[in-house]
Amino acid sequence: MARLGVNIDHVATLRQARGGNEPDPVVAAMLVELAGADGIVVHLREDRRHIQDRDLHLLKDTIQTKLDLEMSADEAMVKLALSVKPHLVTLVPERRQELTTEGGLEVAGQRDRIKQIVDMLHDGGIPVSVFIEPDPAQIKAAHKIAADYIELHTGRYANARRIKEEQAELEAIVHAAKLAYKLGLGVNAGHGLTYRNVKRLTQIPEIVEYNIGHSIVARAVLVGLDRAVREMKQLVG
Ligand code: PXP
Repeated sequence: MARLGVNIDHVATLRQARGGNEPDPVVAAMLVELAGADGIVVHLREDRRHIQDRDLHLLKDTIQTKLDLEMSADEAMVKLALSVKPHLVTLVPERRQELTTEGGLEVAGQRDRIKQIVDMLHDGGIPVSVFIEPDPAQIKAAHKIAADYIELHTGRYANARRIKEEQAELEAIVHAAKLAYKLGLGVNAGHGLTYRNVKRLTQIPEIVEYNIGHSIVARAVLVGLDRAVREMKQLVG
């Protein structure tokens, strides 16, 4: 059975909208674990737009499953990761202006630089995953730099509007997963996955973990709204 990692960045997005302290992603992580998730995923962005350093430290101390820290491949982030020691670091590309992570990390084109980062994390005892497009060149490069896992970027599959396009993206993911597995890499997948589009991916046996965030937090708002309103109505009524 595959594992589910839940990305709780957008609980923090909601908190940052008011600059206060609720909803607290640390509390959310506890509820996510109680509901059966196999891991907590957070992206500590350079601009700290959602998850904060405080969250990262508290999460590492309190979660019972495992913490996957998504971060850009730079030395300042490595320093922070080495002090927190998450169970896994996933290296992602990062651009300040983007709404969310766009595209996979270019590993093939900057192998030496990414390898240095991977080595530093390995020296600190932290396994490393790289978030890449389902492209054979990127997978071979991930293998060459001694990554432990890849996370296949499922965004193009998720965003496909035509059945033919979706099928082609799915096939690319199937091939990528098989190649990575053959090379001995662990295979995770994520980005843009929803209650509708995840099912077809779960037919790919090489994928051991799905990392899903926005869709779960979005659904939580809607399925939780009824109770939240009823409770407030009781208070004011
Ligand atoms: N995996 C990675 C590497 C990501 O950067 C993200 C988005 O932060 C996700 C998974 C989760 O994507 P989504 O929020 O679309 O489910």
